[in-house]
Amino acid sequence: MRTDILHAGASVLTYEIRNIVAVAEQLERLGVQVYYENIGDPVAKGEEIPGWMKEIVAEAVHDNATYAYSPTKGMLAAREYVAQTTNSKGGVQIDADDVIFFNGLGDAISKVYGFLKRTARVIVPTPSYTTHSSAEAAHAGAEPVTYILDPNHLWYPDLEDIENHIKYNPAVAGILVINPDNPTGAVYPVEVMRAIVDICEKNDLFIICDEVYQNMTFNGTVCTPLCTVIGNKVPAICMRGISKEMPWPGGRCGWIETYNRKRDPMFATYVQSILSAKMLEVCSATLPQVVMPRIKSHPQYWPNLQKRISLYERNSNIAYDTLNGLKGVLVNRTNGAFYMSVVFEEGVLNHKQSLPIANEAVRDTVVHLVTGAGVQPDKRFVYHLLASTGICVVPLSSFATDLQGFRITLLETDEAKCRSIFNTIAKSIRQYIDSHESNGHHYST
Ligand SMILES: Cc1ncc(COP(=O)(O)O)c(C=O)c1O
Repeated sequence: MRTDILHAGASVLTYEIRNIVAVAEQLERLGVQVYYENIGDPVAKGEEIPGWMKEIVAEAVHDNATYAYSPTKGMLAAREYVAQTTNSKGGVQIDADDVIFFNGLGDAISKVYGFLKRTARVIVPTPSYTTHSSAEAAHAGAEPVTYILDPNHLWYPDLEDIENHIKYNPAVAGILVINPDNPTGAVYPVEVMRAIVDICEKNDLFIICDEVYQNMTFNGTVCTPLCTVIGNKVPAICMRGISKEMPWPGGRCGWIETYNRKRDPMFATYVQSILSAKMLEVCSATLPQVVMPRIKSHPQYWPNLQKRISLYERNSNIAYDTLNGLKGVLVNRTNGAFYMSVVFEEGVLNHKQSLPIANEAVRDTVVHLVTGAGVQPDKRFVYHLLASTGICVVPLSSFATDLQGFRITLLETDEAKCRSIFNTIAKSIRQYIDSHESNGHHYST
């Protein structure tokens, strides 16, 4: 190229959640039976879409209007429905003009960070759902600025760490909160949410709160929606969507709700710039917006969601009871969303450990992939686990963290299979950690 065409943020755009699929598919071709526990798609994991929901979609498909563009902000009826739902929680009150629809939250996330001034930073959690941390880092052309989610304290945000970052880094303009969280499965208590709002108020910051899993909590926990604690001063963007809850991830439909937008003229202009960006793109997909209020108002909507939540609760407890107390790892019980993050204690992993891999071609492939500089020890474990057992998880180090571990989903519908997967993982962790000491049982690279 006669001139450098690479964006300064190009190197921070990685998505291991999907990268690992390419490896899994390669091993599948070599005969490995793969259990995909890497991606948060309930439908891909066998979730049956209820007939009544399909009927609502089918009816809309017969209506010519659903083939038309929609207004840039989104269909008025859908935006009114969203505003009414938020207002019914009794906190901040919004109207349809405070809601903008996107082609999934992925689209919203890239615009929300993309139209922020380059030097203004949003502090993101570590570990962090990569779509946020990478988009934020790409907008700044720098590594993400992170605050700690503490695995020794139920994965709650370390408030002192947040305050210190704000104090010593004047570029921080906002805080990202994901509640319930991906990848940790934590649900934050109301006090934590209030404290974050207070920090923002004290330091004149705004909040981005991703609540895509808001209605998916269990084990006796409930989510505190930002709208109930935000008050009337701190400007905020709340993100929600249909991907996980409905579930319709392929519908690519999500929205932002803005709170206290007019309280700060600069924030109001920033939101306007996000809308203008959407205008250049014309609009988001019409069909999911048309059916969303109808589906969510259907009498079977909440019972159906509740049934799924019970399944995640069951899986969360199977996972926790199987892995808790295992030598060398730290786990917390997942209380929301459908992920669990397992952390290896410091120094437990090294570059000599391995798992037995019977098939020679599979073993050669993995040895090749984990050999060389820069391969994180948890990635080595994850690749060995995949090759040895077929269980496909995501290395925790790919979620903008120095912690070593892995993220696994809790979406398996078959209880026996779920138990078998976690028993196999427990056995593999023991075997992997001990493989170095037992010297030469398997192979080393
Ligand atoms: C916290 C969080 N936000 C947003 C998304 C993406 O949602 P969408 O399908 O609407 O792009 C995900 C997907 O896994 C997620 O976990």
